[in-house]
Amino acid sequence: MGKYFKHPLGQAFLVLLVSYVLLDFGIQYIPPLIGAVFGFTFLSAPIPNSVLLQYLITVGVGILLWVSDNDARWAEFKAPMYRVMVDPGQKALRNSLMVLVPILVAFATFNSVRPSVSAPTTLRAIHPSAPGQFVFQGATLQLAGLESPLRSQGSMDEHYEEGKRVYYENCIGCHGDGLDGQGHYAHGFNPAPLSFQGDNTIAQLVEAVVFWRIAKGGPGLPNEGAPWNSAMPAWEDFLTEDEIWSVIIFLYEQTGNEPRTFEEEAGGGEAE
Ligand code: HEC
Repeated sequence: MGKYFKHPLGQAFLVLLVSYVLLDFGIQYIPPLIGAVFGFTFLSAPIPNSVLLQYLITVGVGILLWVSDNDARWAEFKAPMYRVMVDPGQKALRNSLMVLVPILVAFATFNSVRPSVSAPTTLRAIHPSAPGQFVFQGATLQLAGLESPLRSQGSMDEHYEEGKRVYYENCIGCHGDGLDGQGHYAHGFNPAPLSFQGDNTIAQLVEAVVFWRIAKGGPGLPNEGAPWNSAMPAWEDFLTEDEIWSVIIFLYEQTGNEPRTFEEEAGGGEAE
């Protein structure tokens, strides 16, 4: 064994193997170790495969520089490979390599292009169902029958103007100037912010559901929709109840959509 590691080829192989083990399994333990010494929790993730590959290439280049730096070492390094390729005594090994290497490459290629037929890990509900009740800023609200108080109080023009202010101050970056889901930050999110134009988002909902979605945002989505990863903030933490109802009025006015009513919703439910 020791004999092999005195040989430059053996050493090169050993360095590559140790680097691989250190990089692939070792690195993730370094931050927690530092944390343990300084008395705080410091977790780490394994390094990504693409980075691992880059590191290993760097190590490989280092090894090649080292073995080729000295003529005698370079000759010694190449000798075994040369022997395998031309030495008449190594014919059997040579022939089996000629079969094995293509088989390995073919297998690796096949594995990387093979279509996977496994089912998705979780079934996702694309349209989240609203809960029967939810807690809004500490008070429990029943969703059924929850109506916008602003529709029967004050002036609609004022509610609209207030909603416009709320929208432009808070929502435009994601949902966009045209209420079409094309805000400046929209491209950074998956799922993308929704458009309020057209007839398949807020036009399908009663205002109470829209209120719930705005108040509770992505964090409030039910578990059956997981993984949602929605960037939609829970606006109950930043807006008052009236601000939310007024931005809802703005959304419908501005897109020319009508909220559904609870009566329609009940009828629609039977038809489905
Ligand atoms: C950080 C980006 C972001 C901001 C800011 C944001 N939203 Fe959203 N919003 C989203 C994303 C992403 C979705 C789609 C995923 C989901 O339904 O949670 C969404 C969905 C919605 C929905 C659901 C529509 C439907 O048909 O189900 C409503 C309503 C909504 N947003 C209203 C608002 C309002 C009003 C504001 C401002 C007070 C706002 N959003 C600000 C990202 C954002």
